[in-house]
Amino acid sequence: MSDTSKIIVTGATSGLGREIALQLAARGDSVLACGRRAERLAELEDLKGITGLSLDLSSKTEIDNFCTKFDSLSGVILNAGITFVDRFDAGDVATDMSLIQTNVAANVQLIRGLLPALKKDQGRILIVASVGGLTPLPYQAVYAGTKAFMVNFGLSLREELKSDSVSVSVFAPGGIKTEMTDIPVMKTLENDLAPVADVARAAIKAYDKMPALHVPGGQNKLITLAAKVFPRHVIAAQAERIYRKAREDKA
Ligand SMILES: NC(=O)c1ccc[n+]([C@@H]2O[C@H](COP(=O)([O-])OP(=O)(O)OC[C@H]3O[C@@H](n4cnc5c(N)ncnc54)[C@H](OP(=O)(O)O)[C@@H]3O)[C@@H](O)[C@H]2O)c1
Repeated sequence: MSDTSKIIVTGATSGLGREIALQLAARGDSVLACGRRAERLAELEDLKGITGLSLDLSSKTEIDNFCTKFDSLSGVILNAGITFVDRFDAGDVATDMSLIQTNVAANVQLIRGLLPALKKDQGRILIVASVGGLTPLPYQAVYAGTKAFMVNFGLSLREELKSDSVSVSVFAPGGIKTEMTDIPVMKTLENDLAPVADVARAAIKAYDKMPALHVPGGQNKLITLAAKVFPRHVIAAQAERIYRKAREDKA
């Protein structure tokens, strides 16, 4: 594919990625919407400006093949992600590895593979991290680790790639009302979840402006500020209390 105006959005079959894809297409961008669920991709295909592309981020071979499809690209929004919400010892190695593969390894591989195409068009890379990558997040410990990786990786890469005119920006939202948070433990925290359309608008604004790091929403900005003022273990203890209570309320 050599159409330079195309923007890849990973994880576009649901939640934030889907909303980003819809809003980008509505304003006239050509979107390559990626995900695994074929029926969701087919629904997106029916919309003007969106091409659905099957991509399983658990497969290194699939990612490699995917990257060879593009000669030049105007942007990629690395949004796909998964979490596991529970005590670490309630999980298993397969779940841990799946989080690390989807949230970290696949993104690193995608950036490496797509870089030549992005360089040709002075392209943009928007990394969807999380406030959980800026502050510790007990009961989502592996998730918080993966997002912290993406924050540091993205901000480091941003400086390296400036000389190639490829821009990198990290977008770090807090809780959003999506399939990811549609779980019993989040029920008591539901009022704190942002509407997905608002967060998608903020993500597209970040894609247009390419700040180093953007945290959308007043409450999330406050949490991020607190994490700069107070030692991280203090923030971690506070977050543990909030999530432990949510778990007890759910039970
Ligand atoms: N929801 C929140 O509260 C929140 C807060 C902060 C940050 N975020 C971040 O925002 C991003 C989007 O989250 P969301 O809430 O919109 O989640 P979501 O509704 O669960 O959507 C996740 C997306 O990722 C895709 N995905 C998952 N595993 C995949 C795989 N192996 N291969 C390809 N695609 C895969 C899914 O597509 P298929 O299943 O079709 O493959 C889906 O489109 C994530 O990076 C998340 O960490 C979310």
